Amino acid sequence: MTWAPESWRGLPIQQQPTYDDPEAVEAALAQVRALPPLVHAGEVDHLKAQLARVARGEAFLLQGGDCAERFVDCARKPIEAKLKILLQMSLVLTWGARIPVVRVARMAGQYAKPRSRPTEVVDGFGEVHSYRGDHVNGHHPSERRPDPRRLVDAYFHSAATLNYARALLDGGFADLREAEHWDLGFVREAERRAAYQDMTDRILDALDFVRVTGVEDPSLHSVDLWSSHEGLLLAWEEAQTFPVGDKFYNLGAHLLWIGDRTRQVDGAHVEYFRGIANPIGVKCGPSMAPDELLHLLDKLDPEREPGRVTLITRYGADKAGELLPGHIRAIQREGREVVWSSDPMHGNTVSTTNGYKTRNFDRILDELRVVFEVHRAEGSHLGGVHFELTGNDVTECTGGPQGLGELDLVSAYETFCDPRLNYAQSLEMAFLIARRLQGER
Ligand code: PEP
Ligand code: CO
Repeated sequence: MTWAPESWRGLPIQQQPTYDDPEAVEAALAQVRALPPLVHAGEVDHLKAQLARVARGEAFLLQGGDCAERFVDCARKPIEAKLKILLQMSLVLTWGARIPVVRVARMAGQYAKPRSRPTEVVDGFGEVHSYRGDHVNGHHPSERRPDPRRLVDAYFHSAATLNYARALLDGGFADLREAEHWDLGFVREAERRAAYQDMTDRILDALDFVRVTGVEDPSLHSVDLWSSHEGLLLAWEEAQTFPVGDKFYNLGAHLLWIGDRTRQVDGAHVEYFRGIANPIGVKCGPSMAPDELLHLLDKLDPEREPGRVTLITRYGADKAGELLPGHIRAIQREGREVVWSSDPMHGNTVSTTNGYKTRNFDRILDELRVVFEVHRAEGSHLGGVHFELTGNDVTECTGGPQGLGELDLVSAYETFCDPRLNYAQSLEMAFLIARRLQGER
């Protein structure tokens, strides 16, 4: 079957909103289609080349951001905070583990969410549509009707977010010699606690060397950050799809991934994804059979193109040891090369007795530890990590350096979707991963 940006239409599709006014949807999509791309195809190719290095073990992938980005997060402070935490984590990994880091933000378009139920009952409102992300409807129970105008709003919020992120990267953040922009207090704090001393020494030495000598180490001087989101609302993704040369690119983001709930081999999402030239992610949860994974890859990456596919495994700490070996062996049997990334968040979500969705820092770490060990035992390597995190001091995940308990969650539980690591938890995670990587090398 020949592929076209719209060839997914008519195939079985999961997780799409139902709008009351299909004409308004088509009008909104026509408006999006006429607007300029958000990224350039050359950047997309560049990221794919970097991911090919990750697959070969020459670099490490750090992907992170909100579970659901909200339109209100398209503001100066939240964007700065997100960039800062991603850059700081990558600094820890780069110098702590001495490995180049490819940074991919779940940002500038992560507005649509799959849900386990299409509707829910809310006190005082009766049965309402589930919140599917700002791309579709509002979080408040009175705003749950899917609103086509949000398709256009999503474009402008992505564009404004990406524009400010690019401005920050082109400006002060791009230059590590301007260390104040990076707020390196966290390194000095880790040093003061005598935690990770070897790594903090290396980070500070590297920065001092650059500052004192004025050497323009390209690894310090230029900072790349790529945008990514789950490619969920296919009509919107289709509207972001442009021909470039003899290929089609989704130019709404650098990388897109297929969620664990929409990766059916004969479904609409896989059909759409197989035709775009971007690097793509595939979430692999406990229900993925090894054979199914190979069928997916035959469709999504028939040419076996380096950097094309990142497999983002998310089993849960108690299942990773049992399930990951089968997936790794299937890939090895076929002689395929992929980026193996670990999302230790989505398989470890629990509900507290006081009604919060949370994840425990140590359980997250448990999954990572198992995944690192299984890759090593199977003669493979973990190429990257995928976190839901924020640069703010929220209280959504338990444990970590502040020892947050279930009762602490009430104080700053801000997510509209899944619980994120906060600033301190994210940095601690980066140091722990850096130590692990250092041990592996
Ligand atoms: C997500 O990344 O927010 C998500 C919904 O993940 P998954 O598809 O792995 O469940
Ligand atoms: Co999530």
